[in-house]
Order: sequence, then structure tokens, then C-alpha cells
Amino acid sequence: MMPTGKLILDNSLDSLKACAKLLQQNELVAVPTETVYGLAANALSEKAARKIFSVKGRPLIDPLITHFKDADAAFSHVHTNTDAEVLASAFWPGPLTLVMEKQPIIPDLITAGLSSAAIRVPRQAIMLALLQEIDFPLAAPSANPFGYVSPTRARHVAQTLGQKIAAILDGGPCQHGIESTILDLREPKTPKILRPGPISVDQIESILGRKIYSAQNSAPKEQAQVSPGQLRKHYSPHTKIKIVAHGQLEFALKTGEAIVANQKPSVAGKNHVYWLSEDGALETIAKNFFDLIQKLDRMHYSRMLIEAAPEKDIGIAINDRLRRAAASY
Ligand code: TXA
Ligand code: MG
Repeated sequence: MMPTGKLILDNSLDSLKACAKLLQQNELVAVPTETVYGLAANALSEKAARKIFSVKGRPLIDPLITHFKDADAAFSHVHTNTDAEVLASAFWPGPLTLVMEKQPIIPDLITAGLSSAAIRVPRQAIMLALLQEIDFPLAAPSANPFGYVSPTRARHVAQTLGQKIAAILDGGPCQHGIESTILDLREPKTPKILRPGPISVDQIESILGRKIYSAQNSAPKEQAQVSPGQLRKHYSPHTKIKIVAHGQLEFALKTGEAIVANQKPSVAGKNHVYWLSEDGALETIAKNFFDLIQKLDRMHYSRMLIEAAPEKDIGIAINDRLRRAAASY
């Protein structure tokens, strides 16, 4: 455990060194990324990685993403190909995860026995500095109990997993607030989106110069479970969620309900009315989404009525998370 007894470590060189040491000792450290906070362990140590599954309550059949300091380090752990290299130079460091055939050096525990691994180079500055400080990559799923809402602030991690981990490196609020886009590159002819995220299908298609396969516009129940961890119910608060179509919110509140609009509404100031952005900017909605849901979840409403985002750009990823958060089974 932390030698200082302090759980949340500030964004400083001393904290970075302390976290590097804990990771070298096979401890778990929650780390900031530009998407969400991750629960990190040495990806090359089965012993360390096993702790991730037990602390999260995550089934061993759900594989982890491995984070590297740069593209060279990442590609030396998988069987690489031209598409991957082109995408890496366009989007790394950044919120794109690539699924590729792995090399034996990545333990089977990390990939849940699959022959493929999910890899990415994150962009958050202190996370990158940490990866440069240590001489191994970091396995890191989102730092939330399995099935619960993802953390986008250090305090979210402290509130849910604080008792069970060695330290939380505080990098401030996550820039995107939604997990990385996952792209399956195992079949070179047919790259597939497994999870929509901050990097859009259009952006990937324009770099590759061709169409890619994406199941993202179909509702999760119709969607085949393409990524092992992409369960229909996921990211769920304890409070029930009802989704309201974009632009269709009515501010007639029933007792016990909270209303969440995309944009500051004309009735702002009315009790139990909340909004995800002042002006409807999708980037801001994404950034505040998991934070506001967690705040409201702690206020014990009987139900949250949440307005869907427009189905474009990162709005596609927001709506994916919203549908899963609202799924009742
Ligand atoms: O933005 C992110 O991706 C964050 C930060 C911490 O990097 N991480 C994250 O990890 O969202 P997690 O574990 O919550 O979600 C990882 C997803 C899971 O749905 C898992 O099934 C999928 O990645 N995945 C991992 N390895 C895979 C593989 N070999 N094939 C297909 N899907 C894989
Ligand atoms: Mg997760």
C-alpha cells in the first residue's frame, strides 16, 4: 500500500515517481488518460494484472487494453500491418485502441485467452510521462467497479475503488470523458469498429481511404456482441435512466425525478433540472456525461430522464454509453 498513506496524489514529478515504484512492485494505481481514468498494473506481470480483475470484480473472460509509451513499443508486442501503422501515425498518442494479433510476451490473462490484444498509446501528459518512467506497458481498464459508470475525475475512483488500490494519480478531469474508439484490425480487408469513441468512423475512413465496418448505429440489443466486454448493460448507475429523444425533453417533472438536457434550457434554475453543456457542444457533453450521472446517482433520485445527443461525431459514442447505462438487463 501507499507508504505515505495518501490515496490521491497530485500532478507532480514526486507523485509520478511514487506511482512508478508502486507499479514496479505489482501494485494497482489509478491513472488519468484523455478518455477516462484507468486502473493500471504491469501488463507483463500476470500477478499484477490478476489484481485488476479481482478489484474491479471483472470476469476473467473480459480482456484488458494495454497502454504503451509510443507506437514502436506497442507494435513490438503484436503482429503489425500497414493500416495499423498509418492509423497510429494519424491518431497516436490519442483515443484509438487497435485490436491485433498478439505476440506471446503479452500474458494470456490480459487478453482473456484470445490470440488478439487491444493496444493504445494514450495522450494525457502525466500518463505518458509515467509510461516513459517505467520499462513495461500498463494494462488498464476503466477504473470503476465492473458494470458501473466510468470515472472521469480522481474523486470518482476514490469513491468507488479507493479502499482497494494503492494510489490514484490525479490528472484533473479527463479531456474526452468517453472511452477510446476500439477498432478491430485482425482482418486487414475489413476493419471493424467494436466500440464507438472520440475518434469517429469518418476520421478513420478518411485516413485509410476506404469504408470500414461499423455496427455503431444499431441499438446494442440488435448488435452482435462483437467485443467481449461490450455487454448490453454496462456503465450503469444505481438510479434508473429513461432516454428522451434529442430535442424532445419536456420539463414537466414528477416527484423524485431529475431531468438532464444536452444544453442549458430556458427553465434553468428550476429544481432538479440539469444540463451537460451551456451551448450543446458535443465535446462538452461527452466530457461532463459520466460526471453528472455519478453526481445525480449519489442524490438518490428515483429516475433520471436524460436527453440523447445528436447521432453524429462523438454524439454516437455518448448515445452508445447512454443506451447501455439505461439497459435494465
Ligand atoms: O479509453 C479507454 O479505452 C479506457 C482507458 C483507461 O484507456 N479503457 C477502457 O478499458 O475503456 P475497458 O476495459 O473498460 O474496456 C476495454 C474494452 C472491453 O470492452 C474489452 O472487451 C475490449 O476493450 N477488448 C480488450 N481486448 C480485446 C480484444 N482482444 N478483442 C476485442 N475486444 C477487446
Ligand atoms: Mg470500462
